[in-house]
Amino acid sequence: MAKDKQEFTKEEADALHSRRREEQAVEAGRRKKQKAQMAGVWSRRDFFGRLGWVGFGVFSLATLLAAVRSAFPRVLFKPDTSFKAGWIDDFAIGEVSEKFKKDYRIWVVRSEDGVYALYAKCTHLGCTPRWLASENKFKCPCHGSGFYPTGVHFEGPAPRPLERVRVARADDGQLLIDVGVKYRQEKGDWEKPGAFLRV
Ligand code: FES
Repeated sequence: MAKDKQEFTKEEADALHSRRREEQAVEAGRRKKQKAQMAGVWSRRDFFGRLGWVGFGVFSLATLLAAVRSAFPRVLFKPDTSFKAGWIDDFAIGEVSEKFKKDYRIWVVRSEDGVYALYAKCTHLGCTPRWLASENKFKCPCHGSGFYPTGVHFEGPAPRPLERVRVARADDGQLLIDVGVKYRQEKGDWEKPGAFLRV
């Protein structure tokens, strides 16, 4: 007659328990290892959480830097455009001096009653005219515009006179020329003090 219930000897039961304990120990070790591996990988929530903090940190830093920057107003240092051109008697009456043309792009012109400085840039397309002493005029080599010694245009395509730059007296009495200040005849600027220094 077959047995309903399998019966084990004591040795068999001990061996079975021992095997189960071993299997449980192996399973526990496997789970522990898997858990340790998962701990090194960010979950999606972790990722977005950290991303949020990084964004907040960057924003805070940018705000802080902007606040610090605003405490130091921007200062633009413009190069000095003025220079001393010597004494009035250094220039003969009727002379168009080209002494400063290379460095400052101007001519200094001495007339009977004063002195003025012309900017050596053609008012057509910006070429540098030449002073033709024998013809008593400035002539542009590009398209032929001509200008009187006063700077007034009389031939060629230039639409207006040459510009003048500021001439004044320095503290020591020398001529002080500022090429950063321009005077346009067609705007009435030549009536202003800096466009002509009376002597
Ligand atoms: S640039 Fe002087 S005439 Fe054209």
